[in-house]
Amino acid sequence: MLSMTPPMGWNSWNTFGRNIDEALFRQMADLIVEKGLKDVGYEYVVIDDCWALKQRDENGKLVADPAKFPNGIKALADYIHSKGLKFGMYSCAGSRTCDGYPSSFGYEFVDAQTFADWGVDFLKYDFCFRPKLTNGPILYNRMGMALKATGREILFSACNWGEFETEKWIRSTGAHMYRSTYDIRDNFDSIKSLALSQVDKLAYSGIGCFNDIDMLVTGMRNKGLAAGGGCTDVQYATHFALWCFFQSPLMIGGNLSIMTDDDIELLKNKELLAINQDKEARPPVVLAGGDRPIFFKHLDNGEYAIAFFNLTDGEATMYAEFFDIGITPECGHGFELRDIMTGEETGFVKDYLGTKVEPFGFKIFRGKFVKKN
Ligand code: GAL
Repeated sequence: MLSMTPPMGWNSWNTFGRNIDEALFRQMADLIVEKGLKDVGYEYVVIDDCWALKQRDENGKLVADPAKFPNGIKALADYIHSKGLKFGMYSCAGSRTCDGYPSSFGYEFVDAQTFADWGVDFLKYDFCFRPKLTNGPILYNRMGMALKATGREILFSACNWGEFETEKWIRSTGAHMYRSTYDIRDNFDSIKSLALSQVDKLAYSGIGCFNDIDMLVTGMRNKGLAAGGGCTDVQYATHFALWCFFQSPLMIGGNLSIMTDDDIELLKNKELLAINQDKEARPPVVLAGGDRPIFFKHLDNGEYAIAFFNLTDGEATMYAEFFDIGITPECGHGFELRDIMTGEETGFVKDYLGTKVEPFGFKIFRGKFVKKN
């Protein structure tokens, strides 16, 4: 089964938008391998919108723009597979894609077969220009079944931006991940509002179908289509930590050829990725809300995590009260945790955990729940 943990990869839209071609995807695939991103789990290389000609061929099939993809899509898929990576493409549930290219309404079964013939492993499926009387469940179910009918294993990445309460029906269409938000921009206000919009919806996300809060802007540094002012190092780290803690799919949106080593290291942070890829995939309990949220989360292997996010511009002292999860000192148990970023240990804590968090920063502690005699 696909999507046992949140899918990871790279997508062209945030940085390159319409300016895509075969050479770009080859280069990004090379860099995913060279920079060690493949080794930590990034595997899907995804072409977003603007890859096709404006007209289908005489058989009603989609045609890749030969100016952008001179060797055709199959050759690119073969190249990406030769690097040990997987290959993704994009279409839309309406008659035109969001940027005006032909898309799959009425052609779902034809297009799914075309993608399978090309060796596609992942389909991002958008929601623009659809007939008003159609609805999400039918359109996504139709493509979900068309993909399965090809016999090829294709990860189905739905993108209807959370409209019509996506989280309530999308899992039943065969989707493996679902965009729950409108497009991200490279600034902290956007990151914060997208993340906070999903806090009370995370219980719908889990094994087989994960809530996708949108592609990462980590390391974009205000360059490319989603530029919106950029973020500081601390803000990018908090963005990445939020996406990891919420177990969102991790689709890198920046240009890997100009990203700094530190930005690449952040994307490879083993502790954050371990939480993102945690096999139990349980939603967090919200211990505090607003723009200084605190979360508690069960992890695989009997471990737990407590996360403090300070989304404000002032330093904060934050407290996770264990009675809020039903744990009192009288139960004879407490936590032994460590700060995953610094390694610093808390010792045995049984009432609460308090910590200072820098402006726009975060702290995540993980460890065991132990009995103290
Ligand atoms: C939007 C989608 C973006 C991108 C774009 C392409 O609807 O949210 O992620 O795919 O369409 O036109």
